Amino acid sequence: MKREGAIAVALSVAILGSAAFIAAYATGGNRLYEGLGVAVAAAALCFAATGWAFWIIPHEQVVDAVDTYPCAPGDRAKMSSEVAEGMREITRSRALLALLAGALGSFACALIVPVRSLGLAPDSLLFHTRWRRGARVVRDDGSLVHADDLNVDGVMTVFPEGATADPQSVVTLVRVPESIPGTASGYMAYSRICTHAGCPVALYRAQERELVCPCHQSAFDVLSNGAVVSGPADHALPRLPIEIGSDGVLRATGDFSEPVGPGFWERG
Ligand code: FES
Repeated sequence: MKREGAIAVALSVAILGSAAFIAAYATGGNRLYEGLGVAVAAAALCFAATGWAFWIIPHEQVVDAVDTYPCAPGDRAKMSSEVAEGMREITRSRALLALLAGALGSFACALIVPVRSLGLAPDSLLFHTRWRRGARVVRDDGSLVHADDLNVDGVMTVFPEGATADPQSVVTLVRVPESIPGTASGYMAYSRICTHAGCPVALYRAQERELVCPCHQSAFDVLSNGAVVSGPADHALPRLPIEIGSDGVLRATGDFSEPVGPGFWERG
């Protein structure tokens, strides 16, 4: 009975230690109290587990002789008292089992709760930018870009309206001759984030019609959907589909067809 009491006390201490850890974490994360709480809980659980193994789990082997029936009255009385004692032990064991479940459950909570510190789950911005069908094209000051704002071989850095601070959505607008098929009156738009290591693809070679990243000199062919011409980048610059609206303002007809930037794990 004393040994079961010691185990019960240890399990209770484990519950209190785990609760103290959770309380310290939830109220700002005092490292001293968090460490003390989880250390006390772990030590108490170890003590309880060891005691349970040595004191609760029976280790003796019992071999019963085959009785002859009917039993003697004295044997029946002895059997009845053994059954009654067994029932008391089962009741005590249930209380211990409840304490054990509480101690393990609270300790598991103490281990899981810090997952909150990992922050928000990644949202769809990992796969999409702020460009949507109908999003109007603007400069960094928010002014709209019209069809006659660029000359042939001119370039401009543009954004989706209302998202000029979103680094994922930055686009280089290029104007090539209207006679080139697959353009919006000569306009083409590409992500400004280099697919090699994420530098801004800030240069334009008009003669070759290539966008060039100054960091490691990757060059992308404007007339071939941003295909890599040279340099360490291993995949094309994502192209943004655009059109010219009836009001003469450039707008997107959708998002990029693939995630922008480097190192996206789906790519080979
Ligand atoms: S980051 Fe553009 S080539 Fe390396």
